[in-house]
Amino acid sequence: MSEEIKPSTFKVTIDNITIDVPPGTTVLNAARQIGGDVAPPAMCYYSKLQGSGGKCRTCLVEVAAGSTADPRPMPKLVASCRTTVMDGMIVKNITSERVIDARNGVVEFLLINHPLDCPICDQAGECHLQDLGYDHGKETTRYQFARRTFVREDIGPYIQLHMTRCILCYRCTYVADQITNKRVHGIVDRGDHAAISTYISKAIDNDFSGNMIDVCPVGALTDRTFRFKNRVWFTKPVDAHRNCETPECCGKATLWLRGEEVFRVTARKDEWGEVQSYDGKPGWICNTCRFDKKHTADWQIEGLTSISRHSVISANKYKVLEMPTEVLGAVLDGRKPRILMDIHNISEVNKPGVELSELQRPATSADFKEQD
Ligand code: SF4
Ligand code: FES
Repeated sequence: MSEEIKPSTFKVTIDNITIDVPPGTTVLNAARQIGGDVAPPAMCYYSKLQGSGGKCRTCLVEVAAGSTADPRPMPKLVASCRTTVMDGMIVKNITSERVIDARNGVVEFLLINHPLDCPICDQAGECHLQDLGYDHGKETTRYQFARRTFVREDIGPYIQLHMTRCILCYRCTYVADQITNKRVHGIVDRGDHAAISTYISKAIDNDFSGNMIDVCPVGALTDRTFRFKNRVWFTKPVDAHRNCETPECCGKATLWLRGEEVFRVTARKDEWGEVQSYDGKPGWICNTCRFDKKHTADWQIEGLTSISRHSVISANKYKVLEMPTEVLGAVLDGRKPRILMDIHNISEVNKPGVELSELQRPATSADFKEQD
């Protein structure tokens, strides 16, 4: 009997676009190779975290033909992050009304247990659920019961957990399991009672815990050193690196600047909102880089970060670092203007002595009062 020769790549067609991918590739990763809207949204899958995916159902797709050998459609929508491609598979994502309808339903479910507190949430502007809600949400809710709420909890010196916003994607527990040396938090209880807990609020104080903030798709885990300091769309992200001595820290980060002040340091993200990879390894950063290096002098700045995500976060980002050219000399034939109004002297909005990024709390109007 002749042995069946398996093809070294599988042909898969997603939203009418055919590509070749290695066997074992998930439908989601195949769609990401095509890119753009063909890639389903993913709230729990994170390619750099083993075992992630299969929790949120936002990545549902329709399989219109299972494979060349068995072209029957799959009866139910499947989670693309957990379904591997077969040769000749035909998948529909944005071309399927069933998928769009189901995804609208998933968003409605996610929002049952998530407050619409974007106006006071630090994640606003870079929140994946906010983006998903804009694309698939409804203007009204059919939910009539009281939503579950939790008391905010400081887990360690750098992270605040606002469980009310958690969508139980499990990413932070995978980070703790896979890139920190000990995991002291997890998901306790089940169903409506399920919650992230540190059991007795034990501090998460290992060197890489800050990466949990980066993987959280919503505002459940926020950076205590940045909370309420600034809106993310008012800050200017620049790529920077430093020679970090911590093993496993890639030393490459994004600094979020306001003027010359470093308000926040995060890992660099790719177009899917995941940390970028370097030499095939995820670019996690250590807590020293993230929380202790808050001056531009600590870093070598490479240039403006290019944000490819379609979100509020990409608003107001100038593509060049150059200052506008001085035009007065040109229009006045080299003469100097006799009067030049300095609006800063008049408005006095930016007091030179007030370093907002250094405050250990949100800024208030008192910080701008004259200090006699
Ligand atoms: S805290 Fe954030 S990362 Fe952790 S499970 Fe909840 S939503 Fe996911
Ligand atoms: S991304 Fe696939 S189930 Fe969450």
